[in-house]
Amino acid sequence: MTKQIASDAAASCFSAANINGLTLKNRFIKAGTFENMTPNGVPGDRLQRFHGGLADGGIAMTTLGYCAVENDGRLNENMMYMHEGIRVQLSSLIADLHQRGTLVSGQMGHSGGFSKNRQLSRRRPLGPSFGVNGLGIAQGMFFCDAMSLSDIDAMVSSYARAAIFMKSVGFDALEIHFGHGYGLCQFMSPKTNKRKDEYGGSLENRMRLPLRVLTAVREAVGKDFPLLGKISMTEGVRGGLHYDDAVEISKFLDQAGIDGIITSGGTSTMNPMIMFRGGNILPCMLKTEPSRIMRMILRAAGKSMFKDYPYKELYFLEQAKRIREVVSCKMIYVGGASTRASFDQLMAAGFDFIQLGRSLLSDPDLPNRAQAEKGFVSRCTHCNECVSTIESPQGIHCTQFRSMPDIGPSKSFRAICLQ
Ligand SMILES: Cc1cc2nc3c(=O)[nH]c(=O)nc-3n(C[C@H](O)[C@H](O)[C@H](O)COP(=O)(O)O)c2cc1C
Ligand code: SF4
Repeated sequence: MTKQIASDAAASCFSAANINGLTLKNRFIKAGTFENMTPNGVPGDRLQRFHGGLADGGIAMTTLGYCAVENDGRLNENMMYMHEGIRVQLSSLIADLHQRGTLVSGQMGHSGGFSKNRQLSRRRPLGPSFGVNGLGIAQGMFFCDAMSLSDIDAMVSSYARAAIFMKSVGFDALEIHFGHGYGLCQFMSPKTNKRKDEYGGSLENRMRLPLRVLTAVREAVGKDFPLLGKISMTEGVRGGLHYDDAVEISKFLDQAGIDGIITSGGTSTMNPMIMFRGGNILPCMLKTEPSRIMRMILRAAGKSMFKDYPYKELYFLEQAKRIREVVSCKMIYVGGASTRASFDQLMAAGFDFIQLGRSLLSDPDLPNRAQAEKGFVSRCTHCNECVSTIESPQGIHCTQFRSMPDIGPSKSFRAICLQ
């Protein structure tokens, strides 16, 4: 079914809208940005204050970034994974955000063969195929192993279990992470999936696990619960997924019953800068990376991985519009939306919701301010220093502006980066 784009009377980004029975008070959704505010995997006060600040700023729905579906789906041991041990903390965080008038989505992630989780239950992480585990080198986890068919079944069950748990603690929606080079994306990508069985080869085969996961999560939460999916429209590497594949992938997800598609790009594993555009994160990473081995690797290979992509407002718009044309589910734009003019442009182009990452780190009260000021422009300079704060003990924050009372800018962190 084709969705008509650019309708004559574009909806206002401040109007309420519905996604599978859930009403959002405006069109702004906080993009999943792993907060690193869950020491040892436990959510606490800091995470609550971070999302509370966004709630007070008028966001319709916030997203808890990277909720791993199982212990072995974590990139590191400070990420949350969905289990009974954090039920009380998670329920209380979500209840507090509800009281402040904001809905809460949880991003379901699995790192597949890309992990430095010291608490991994096995010697090596598991991906679609044997390969290098670029993230785990400093931890001595140089490689990832190929998943067996029973490992694949177990992964599907982990997603279903996590979905039941997440619904039960009060999440209003779930966002399955199909992008950025993590577990499901590794299966979708011909670059990382070299399997010879029914899970490898054609796009249909490479989509088999992601679609099984979507079906299992749908069965777990029921037909009336909003399920979003975040994809990478391109991996930005030779032999990987590209924009044409994204059109087909989106059709698969739409037909399988996803309620909304979030059109991102790039991979954390191979080409992260295509996801962000703007200031290159390599210099800051070289300064802040604690491991000597990783610093050596970054010096040797960093330039080919962290390419320069100048910032451009709405940098994914043209490619995301191609997907808008072929799916009937809701479309959620992400990538360089930081001015009131851009928000209006997205509504006019037929997008239903707008996810915001960095512009909410610099301006947590963005929705309220953009409503009050027609010419609103976020303060975010797209320097991308916040990306390198992902391992900061303070948790992620804007290094340029004191956007929340006790979160950023961290002078000491900036001083390190700018040395
Ligand atoms: C500090 C930081 C952490 C991020 N972590 C995640 C994450 O956990 N999951 C994810 O899907 N995207 C993550 N992203 C990417 C954002 O969700 C978003 O796709 C990207 O920042 C582009 O949107 P923007 O231009 O509105 O910032 C992160 C971005 C930043 C800045
Ligand atoms: S550090 Fe602040 S100004 Fe720089 S990209 Fe991040 S949010 Fe924007």
